Amino acid sequence: MSVSSRQLNRTLERLESHLRSLFPQEPDSTEWEAFEERLAENFPDLFHNLLDLYGHHFDFYFHLERLLEIMASMYLARPPEWKASDAMREADRSWFQSGRLIGAMAYVDLFAGDLKGLREKIPYLQELGVTYLHLMPIYRSPDGDDDGGYAVSSYRELDPEIGTVDELRELAAELNQFGISLVLDFVFNHTSDEHEWARKAIAGDEVCQDYYLMFDSRKEPDEYESHIRSIFPDEHPGCFTYLNRIRKWVWTTFHTYQWDLNYRNPEVFNAMVEEMLFLANLGIEILRMDAVPFIWKQKGTNCENLPEAHSLIESFNIVARIVAPSMVFKSEAIVAPDEINKYIAPDQCQLSYNPLLMALLWESLATRNARLLRHSMQKRFEIDPACAWVNYVRSHDDIGWGFDDADAWEVGVNPHDHRRFLTAFYVGRHEATFSRGMVFQENPETGDARVCGTTASLCGLDKALDDGDAGEIELSLRRILLLHGIIFTIGGIPLIYLGDEIGMANDHSFVDDLEKEGDSRWLHRPPFDWMKAEQRTDPGTPENTIHLGLLKLTQMRLNNVAIASGETEIVDMANERVFAYFRTAPEQTILCVANFSDQPQRVAATRLRQLGLRKVLVDLVSGQTVLAAKQLDLEPLQFLVLLQHGG
Ligand code: GLC
Ligand code: GLC
Repeated sequence: MSVSSRQLNRTLERLESHLRSLFPQEPDSTEWEAFEERLAENFPDLFHNLLDLYGHHFDFYFHLERLLEIMASMYLARPPEWKASDAMREADRSWFQSGRLIGAMAYVDLFAGDLKGLREKIPYLQELGVTYLHLMPIYRSPDGDDDGGYAVSSYRELDPEIGTVDELRELAAELNQFGISLVLDFVFNHTSDEHEWARKAIAGDEVCQDYYLMFDSRKEPDEYESHIRSIFPDEHPGCFTYLNRIRKWVWTTFHTYQWDLNYRNPEVFNAMVEEMLFLANLGIEILRMDAVPFIWKQKGTNCENLPEAHSLIESFNIVARIVAPSMVFKSEAIVAPDEINKYIAPDQCQLSYNPLLMALLWESLATRNARLLRHSMQKRFEIDPACAWVNYVRSHDDIGWGFDDADAWEVGVNPHDHRRFLTAFYVGRHEATFSRGMVFQENPETGDARVCGTTASLCGLDKALDDGDAGEIELSLRRILLLHGIIFTIGGIPLIYLGDEIGMANDHSFVDDLEKEGDSRWLHRPPFDWMKAEQRTDPGTPENTIHLGLLKLTQMRLNNVAIASGETEIVDMANERVFAYFRTAPEQTILCVANFSDQPQRVAATRLRQLGLRKVLVDLVSGQTVLAAKQLDLEPLQFLVLLQHGG
């Protein structure tokens, strides 16, 4: 649908006079000006998006007015310190691209007990250089199984065992004083079945039933299901759950107690905008947009990554830009590589997980070969220069082999067989493995499976320690540092799963916990071991080796402009086992080199010269000097950060 600019102006005028009637005594007028300016600048885009999504509703303008009311009142409620931060971030929109951004993620209860406990751990985070802290969902959720908090019963209340909303506000402010940005989830694809809307829906309230996707018979669910995949096949096949109280099927992409919201209903969009802005006003600087691919459904499609999903995210983004511009979005799209990149744009998600890099790092460790990694990154690492990757080794979720089939064929790899091999390797079904992982959501029909395990366990540290094999211990530590070396230097924000920096192992106790035993992702979500953390200062311990290695990487990011903000170019070292990339800033060039083999490798001198490397290079990791005139000899699993002497 298109509208003329005259019509648009008239709409805007009408909405503005509506606003005036709502807020007759002008709030502090200079403050209000900032809102009005941003509204005038961004409203046309928002209007066009919403017109496409909802223009056919007879009450479209009513919803538009309501949206504006929500935005205005949430703006008025926004605390002054976050308005100040808005002004600051607007003057420096690329703040999240700074090299000082170093991320960490944790479950509050497992890491520190509760929010009070977390405040006491700020010095630990500072020691590591953390400036971005993702706390896993702490909102009110059902007792018992709640998908690790991803089944939200109220976006405005916290799990009482974790703390109160006031404590969260205080924490956000305190973190801010230490230069740490708070990252929380916006779980907006679904609510729990205990959310107020869901409770009303099940009690027969039709308005609330329309907040979800409900069907009276199997007809439509069957039609949809013939085109969609099961996300949690272990839990329930397909995507629907029967509600016998109201005799309806409800859409549940994830667990049966997570009901997908119906974004075809404009009221749902408005309601979720209000929830989002409530979170923004707590002091969230990065909003993790959970499960973005699934928010719009269309019969006859696989109901993932649809154009309307993108328009919706854009619409949320524009609202945030008007009301809370210091907050940026991070996309959680764990889908095919071509689709992941479509969410990354200044007007959608400025940040995105990089699940392709994550999966291919593990792929290269297993195969001791970096050609698929190099090939894929050469094609896909580059994104909009106003955006940034969040690079991680592993998260709270499983590892899926989400590389592109065509990329695999192009380097001579059969993607189907390769995925099977990788799963077998990491779950310990392969004889030559160093890894101790577990399988997640194995689908007997398709043969698909994903992998769970902590970084240390997947890198072979526990196995080596159990075997008392010093050589293998050394190799496993090198694997851990190599993976982190890459995520810290390749460009973007590195994200550490807290516990990985001290080599925490798998936690098998989840099998004895009724709430967790069905979900092997708990294997890699162990309670943080503070005794083990003490050993980070004991020279020679694995904890110490890993921790020091990460501290060194932090210093490297902070002190080298090319690592902090340079451009990335993935290069071919003429050795398949070696992955390498330049980081280039006007004043500095750095070459990072990673040997994925557990054997020594060599890069020929001719290749170094061909890449324009001159004379003397210094490896910032080992401190050694390398002569470009000679070949580059790499130790097993060595990671080097080579700085050209003199610039
Ligand atoms: C996201 C979370 C995952 C959760 C799912 C459903 O993918 O990362 O842990 O199970 O959303 O909310
Ligand atoms: C699927 C989804 C992703 C979710 C994951 C949880 O990969 O695409 O969003 O995090 O499952 O295991």
